[in-house]
Amino acid sequence: MPLDMLRFPADFLWGTATSAHQVEGQLANDWSEWERIPGKVKDGSNSARSCEWWAGRYEQDFDLARAMNQNALRLSIEWSRIEPTQGLWDGEAVARYREMLMALRERGIEPMVTLFHFTSPLWLAEQGGWENEAAIGYFERFAAKAAEELGDLVGLWCTINEPNVYAVYSYLLGLWPPQKRNLLTTLRVLRHQILAHVCAYRAIHERQPDARVGLAQSLRVFDPFRPHSSLDRWAARLQDHLFNELVLQPPASGVLPFPLGFNTALPGGADAQDFIGLNYYSRDMVSFDIGQPGLLFTRRFAKPGADFSMEGWGEIYPDGLYRLLKRLKQYDKPIYITETGVPDNNDALRPRFLLTHLTAALRALQEGVPLKGFYFWSLVDNFEWADGFAARFGLVHLDLDSGQRMCKRSAELYGEVCRTGVISREVVERYVPELTEQLFPSDESD
Ligand code: FCB
Repeated sequence: MPLDMLRFPADFLWGTATSAHQVEGQLANDWSEWERIPGKVKDGSNSARSCEWWAGRYEQDFDLARAMNQNALRLSIEWSRIEPTQGLWDGEAVARYREMLMALRERGIEPMVTLFHFTSPLWLAEQGGWENEAAIGYFERFAAKAAEELGDLVGLWCTINEPNVYAVYSYLLGLWPPQKRNLLTTLRVLRHQILAHVCAYRAIHERQPDARVGLAQSLRVFDPFRPHSSLDRWAARLQDHLFNELVLQPPASGVLPFPLGFNTALPGGADAQDFIGLNYYSRDMVSFDIGQPGLLFTRRFAKPGADFSMEGWGEIYPDGLYRLLKRLKQYDKPIYITETGVPDNNDALRPRFLLTHLTAALRALQEGVPLKGFYFWSLVDNFEWADGFAARFGLVHLDLDSGQRMCKRSAELYGEVCRTGVISREVVERYVPELTEQLFPSDESD
């Protein structure tokens, strides 16, 4: 390893990740209805304005991404705009998305487009949303339409964002709409989303053979609290199976593992992904707990004494990114880090977070993991679901009253790394001096 710099490959994609509902404003979907109910969003805010992309402010934010030397951006297109009434396409909405995608391309930024990022059209929600098996066919038709209308501008498609998080938050924990708490429904929704991914994968490829299509998978690290305890190790493996493996296995193997199915073959078969998108935020410690039959005798919690950002957001654990990337190598597919980031309202932790996570990614790369890009969550502070604007993830600060943007220090740092593809000693010394010794140990020249 070079002594004074850590270098990424020349063709690496450097980007940020966003989603329509969190940045566009002026939406009418299941989430925008739900946000209006008092008490649902922590700080009482809503997504009505947000970053005002739909009103045209995407141009300004794409300029900022360009100024940060990003060559990639992950955004989603909103199903409820393109198909506001079941079976009726809105040509104006499609045209607007074409403008956005062209605006990216004009700036030398390669788009990655997500088709489902947690929000459903109202007509789908009224029919039971993703609980309803019919959602699979509806989504397939939407994916086909997107490929037909936008395929000339989009090479990278991400069908569904974090099926496991969506199913768990909306159908098991009851924290997001439609606020259900039912394990069987959760598994049903997850199964439908995986089937929908496979159908969308095939539908896009039929229309655009050279497209690269994948999912954004939210993976967490689960470690046994007492590593020597076989019960804790069992509990950690169980959590890992239910949260990570259930969504990771099917697109690769073409099989639905228990309890999603009984190793049932997926219609559409194996190898339904061209890349793996990894969204990584945190790890959990897991212990066996006889008092928790409802939680399958497992207890998940953040490691006591670890590094934290905001309450409830878990441990900051860069090594987890390295470990998950190494694990994904077995699938033999290109990998993109489709999200990682930290809620940090005054940008105190983000520069360090960026450097430690980038070096964890680089370590995996240097050990042969086919990592092709890094999309930091997020470009500008945006509507963070049930946290509203109380948890800020942006490299750029958003003033909610004026809509003004202001680059944070982490934006400057990320801009330097995107420009050079290098983490240099000089950059580390300038932004997070206390990391210098860790990243560039002085005894390495011995
Ligand atoms: C991910 C979501 C994304 C954002 C980040 C913080 O789970 O995909 O929309 O909310 O968390």
